[in-house]
This record gives sequence, C-alpha cells and structure tokens, in this order.
Amino acid sequence: MPVKVPVVVKIGGSTLGSADTSFADLVALQQQGRTPVVVHGGGPVITQWMQKQGLTPTFVRGLRVTDAPSLDIVVAVLTGLINKQLVGTVTALGGKTVGISGADGALLQCVIANPELGLVGEIVKVSPEPVLDILEKGFIPLIAPVGIRMPQKPGDPCGLLNINGDTAAGHLAGALGAQRLVFLTDVEGVMDSDRRVIPRLSVRMAKDLIASGTAAGGMIPKLEACVTALERRVPAARILDGRASGALARAMGEGSEGTWVTA
Ligand SMILES: Nc1ncnc2c1ncn2[C@@H]1O[C@H](COP(=O)(O)OP(=O)(O)OP(=O)(O)O)[C@@H](O)[C@H]1O
Ligand SMILES: [Mg+2]
Repeated sequence: MPVKVPVVVKIGGSTLGSADTSFADLVALQQQGRTPVVVHGGGPVITQWMQKQGLTPTFVRGLRVTDAPSLDIVVAVLTGLINKQLVGTVTALGGKTVGISGADGALLQCVIANPELGLVGEIVKVSPEPVLDILEKGFIPLIAPVGIRMPQKPGDPCGLLNINGDTAAGHLAGALGAQRLVFLTDVEGVMDSDRRVIPRLSVRMAKDLIASGTAAGGMIPKLEACVTALERRVPAARILDGRASGALARAMGEGSEGTWVTA
C-alpha cells in the first residue's frame, strides 16, 4: 500500500529553541499513526555562525545570499548541528526519527537558478524514495534543507546547494502528495498592511501580497511555497505561530488560527 503523508511541517529556525510544544506535538502525531514529514530551518543559528567567521549575512527576497564560505557554514550547521540536535530532542520525547538532508538519496535535486543569490538551489526534481522508506519503517523524516547540485553536462561534479526551508517544504509536500503543508514560524500568521492576521488567502491573493510588498522578507518564500504545493494538488497550507503551545496539534484540525492558504 502506498505510504500516506498526512502533513509536511516546516519548523522555522525562528521558533526553534523557544519553549514551544512542536516536538511533543510531532511525537503525538506519530503515536496516533499520522507520522509527519518535517523540514527544519536554522536561520538565526546560521547567522550567528557566519558572524563568528566574520561573514555578513545578506538576504534577497527572504533568501540568504550564499557564497562558498557561507555554504560550508550552512551545510555544517543545518545538516550537522541543528539536524542532530533535533533528532536528539524528538528521540528524548519518545519519538522515532531519522535526520537526513535533501542531498541524501538525491532527495532534492537542484540547479543554480539565480546567480545573484550565489550557491542557492532551485529544485528541479524531488526523488521521494528516501523519505518514503523512512516513513514506511515508522520513523519521522527530519530534513535539513540542503540540496544536491546536479551535473548539467557529463563530467560535471555533484556539489551541494543551500535551499530555503520553506521552498524545500513546498516541493516536498507536492511530490509526496501530502494532505497538508504547515509552516510554524514566529508570527501569528500572514499580516495585512495594518498588521492584522489575514485568516484566509487564495493563491491569487498570496501572489498579490508579495507583489504589493505587504509580504516581505521571510514571508515571501513561505507564500511562494504554499503556491507551489497547492499547484501540485496539496489541498491546504497553513502558516501559524509555532511559539504557541499546541500549535502543530491544532494545525492538523480545522480551526481558524493563523492563515489558511487554499487554491
Ligand atoms: N505580511 C507579513 N506577515 C507576517 N510576517 C511577515 C510579513 N512580511 C514579512 N514578514 C516576516 O516574515 C518573518 C518570518 O520568516 P522568517 O524567515 O524570519 O522565519 P522562519 O522562516 O520561520 O525561520 P527560518 O527562516 O530560520 O527557517 C516574520 O518574522 C516577519 O518579520
Ligand atoms: Mg525563513
């Protein structure tokens, strides 16, 4: 029987380390037989490690400009430090999880799409087998958003590329046929120009919010990822405050918290 994927959850680096219940909620879902697929960010920790090395972080439309020394830090911190800390956290809470990156098993295959961003990957193909195999064995796949740079002509070596976690989550949700895509972040939802949470967005409205500049910075890749997933037949995406206790558990229900994005 094909593996069902109830939800792909992106846990923002912005909420990691806050005293929330996201990890306990993940374990509870697993124990209910609704094992989630998780993509994690790591923005603030990567920024700290870059600054320790004398590098200055810059972002374009919410995406981290990534030169070669920055990519080394992104790979080390995301796939090493943060991914394994999260494996430890989930395991300590009684969950079963395997941490991998998007490079493993050629899960997230990328090319450089925009040279202005440097070593940032645009996903051209998702090979979901590694995730499906981990799910089939009953483990939560915990994915660090680093991709593999596919050779563009014979003889080109494979390398690694930085991928925004939101972008990775949107493509994974689409490729896995997830029932829902959930973003846990450090704001209550997508806000309008008066900083009021917008309860419901269509794809069209999401695109308009980006075009008007009302959605800026880190909200841009989130809304773009919602569009990617919805265009690939994921029925619904939600953006909500991961710092609130029980947010992920509620995100699996039909309540009105945060922002819903639907076709
Ligand atoms: N219209 C908007 N509504 C809500 N937040 C917005 C809006 N426009 C920009 N933002 C910003 O988007 C931020 C969330 O994205 P951010 O990339 O900082 O966090 P994250 O994706 O959860 O973490 P990470 O990138 O580390 O994984 C908010 O803190 C807010 O400052
Ligand atoms: Mg972000």
